[in-house]
Amino acid sequence: MAHRIAVIGGDGIGPEVTTEALKVVRAAGVDIDTTDFDLGGSRYLRDGEILSDATLAQLRDFDAILLGAVGTPEVPPGVIERGLLLKMRFDLDLYVNQRPFVGTAPGHSAPHDFVVIRENTEGPYVGEGGVLRKGTPHEVATQGSVNTRMGAERAIRYAFELAVKRDGAKHVTLVHKTNVLTFAGDLWQRAFNDVAAEYPGVGTAYNHVDAACIYFVQDPHRYDVVVTDNLFGDILTDLGGAVSGGIGLASSANLNPARTGPSMFEPVHGSAPDIVGTGKANPTAAILSAALMLDFLGEHDAADRIRTACDQAGTGSTTEIGSRIASVVAG
Ligand code: NAI
Ligand code: MG
Repeated sequence: MAHRIAVIGGDGIGPEVTTEALKVVRAAGVDIDTTDFDLGGSRYLRDGEILSDATLAQLRDFDAILLGAVGTPEVPPGVIERGLLLKMRFDLDLYVNQRPFVGTAPGHSAPHDFVVIRENTEGPYVGEGGVLRKGTPHEVATQGSVNTRMGAERAIRYAFELAVKRDGAKHVTLVHKTNVLTFAGDLWQRAFNDVAAEYPGVGTAYNHVDAACIYFVQDPHRYDVVVTDNLFGDILTDLGGAVSGGIGLASSANLNPARTGPSMFEPVHGSAPDIVGTGKANPTAAILSAALMLDFLGEHDAADRIRTACDQAGTGSTTEIGSRIASVVAG
């Protein structure tokens, strides 16, 4: 049976890199049946749709969603992020954001290989809060952070399951700021301790987020699986990308591990309007995101072959890199 994939190429370089990712998946011999969805900034400017409930209902029927990048300079920041990316995360319950980091950090000689599990549906990103007396000297803004035991625990549990399955050190590090964010931090720490007790074969550590920023740069080899909340994860994963070969290589999965709907896979980078149409976009991040998709669909052999081929990608234009990876994968 073919895997049914909804493809949202999006804006800018999104469609360029997504085309290469699909080329590589097909070269790996995986049977996919794709349907294109025209969504993103350009679509919004044309007829006002960001992501309607009807479109979302259509997306629910697919096995997975592959996204390029969305956002155009003409649309104010936040409109597409909240209306499309965050809406998908919340409505499809994509509660795990998984980002692998393989690379050699500046100043190091040996490569690191770790993965960050970011809670993807709670924290400060739920939009709790408000503003009073806007535009006056007495303006007040609050932005709460929502942390549920269920939400923290399911992300933590996913991290431990991954540590067991992964070919790594069998180790999970909790990153938070428990010394200052004492309410949320306490909930996370207790959830972490309780889940850890169920996995005696997995080692554990705790880092404050500020210390983790130092270790990501100076000692990334200490990590196997890192689990953290939505906001810390957003920031830490950009740092992880920066010490792992940069934005052209950073891939991500937005997962619904309970499989009550499709999961979504996308490169970390945006639509890069500065290089659209020049052939300078590196498709590797999109191709590695497609490999994460294949893992989630149970196509582990194809996913491994794609990752190995990406190591030999070399340089060139968007299509040159994509075609080279495709031909290595095809064997
Ligand atoms: P960006 O990631 O699009 O670009 C940042 C810099 O990295 C640019 O110089 C760009 O040329 C370069 N770059 C990005 N991807 C590259 C690739 N594959 N190969 C080579 N170079 C690459 O971030 P920026 O400029 O902040 O945002 C541009 C637009 O993308 C905005 O509308 C933003 O909202 C949107 N965006 C969308 C995301 C998504 O779809 N998940 C994520 C981040 C930004
Ligand atoms: Mg980010």
